[in-house]
Amino acid sequence: MKPLLAIETSCDDTCCAVLAGDGAVLSSVVSSQIEVHAPYGGVVPELASRHHLMNIPVVVTGALSAAGARMEDIGAVAATNGPGLLGSLLVGLSYGKAAASALGVPFYAVNHIEAHLGSPWIEHPDFPYPVLALAASGGHSHLFFCKSAGERLLVSATRDDAAGEALDKVAKLIGLPYPGGPWIDKLARRGNPKAVEFPLPRFTSGEPDYSFSGIKAAAIHRLKNGGAKLPLGGNRDDWPQWAYDLIASFQKRVVDHLLQRVRGAALELDPAGLVMAGGVACNSLLRERLSSLADELGVGCAFPSPKYCADNAAMVGFAALERYRAGAPPETDADAFPSQSWPRMGLCHSRPRPKKARRLKRSSHDAGHD
Ligand code: KG4
Ligand code: ZN
Repeated sequence: MKPLLAIETSCDDTCCAVLAGDGAVLSSVVSSQIEVHAPYGGVVPELASRHHLMNIPVVVTGALSAAGARMEDIGAVAATNGPGLLGSLLVGLSYGKAAASALGVPFYAVNHIEAHLGSPWIEHPDFPYPVLALAASGGHSHLFFCKSAGERLLVSATRDDAAGEALDKVAKLIGLPYPGGPWIDKLARRGNPKAVEFPLPRFTSGEPDYSFSGIKAAAIHRLKNGGAKLPLGGNRDDWPQWAYDLIASFQKRVVDHLLQRVRGAALELDPAGLVMAGGVACNSLLRERLSSLADELGVGCAFPSPKYCADNAAMVGFAALERYRAGAPPETDADAFPSQSWPRMGLCHSRPRPKKARRLKRSSHDAGHD
């Protein structure tokens, strides 16, 4: 079977990978735009799409040569079509469709979140289902219950900031470069994670969703009212101890919240394992704590090595492989889409009792219509 070429341009990384028909990753190249967006403290969509346009031929050529392949050797092309930044998605999607058409091979469209969710199986192909799968990055924080590779129900989604977004925003205020998540991971090791008490989000409705804006706001409040001049300047290794303590406590609370939902869902759904993916899954405390949680629950645990956690095209190719192997019809008509909603599991961890007054009011209202 000829190799498959995969492209990922949903956000700010231009990525291309070549995969053998058996799923082996022959090459995976990522061109990061961090330097382009760093001065703005976040991704600027217009700049991202322009840089994808410039980078994509170079990245594709690089991935082909690293795999020891030529364009004519490719048997199928896959590209991400959403969710993500529309202008960015269109670059990779159009390039992928054009390359497939020129080669006369099938094109497959890949969902970015599904690609992340499948990424633990690149290196752990026999990991058993059903699993609870956490996808946490700068743009999304989703927890799914996956009965099999193709069957997934959403357990938790964020109602405001994604986990990575909250980490990046607090990091920026402190004075850390973009993206701040890796810096928080590094500097938290110098601090006491119990020094500052941050709130643990909880919804009165009992729904097991995520919300990172409260933890973020509490961290920002502490920073702004702490009397220090922000952003902190000078050598990051010589900052006052309170800064490392705050970073460590903030990171701990973000991880607590991510795992609070995984734990609650695991107790109800009894999965065979826990998996996670996305840039935030690179976080060392999260990796350590997810493993401990799996041990405590007596289930397996798998997460990709960091190169497959953050955005990459190997996961995109991996997600398309089954269709390619099965000779599925090409998906040349697939459009780019920016966002999506998922079928819900409908768990409720601590459903509060209905208030008596509200119940009375509702029944009298209903009675009036009878
Ligand atoms: O998956 P990704 O590369 O791109 C998106 O789809 O967003 O994730 C990027 C996010 C950023 O918010 C970044 O700060 C975060 O992942 N991140 C980390 C770490 N490495 C990357 N967050 C915490 N700890 C890390 N080691
Ligand atoms: Zn992503």
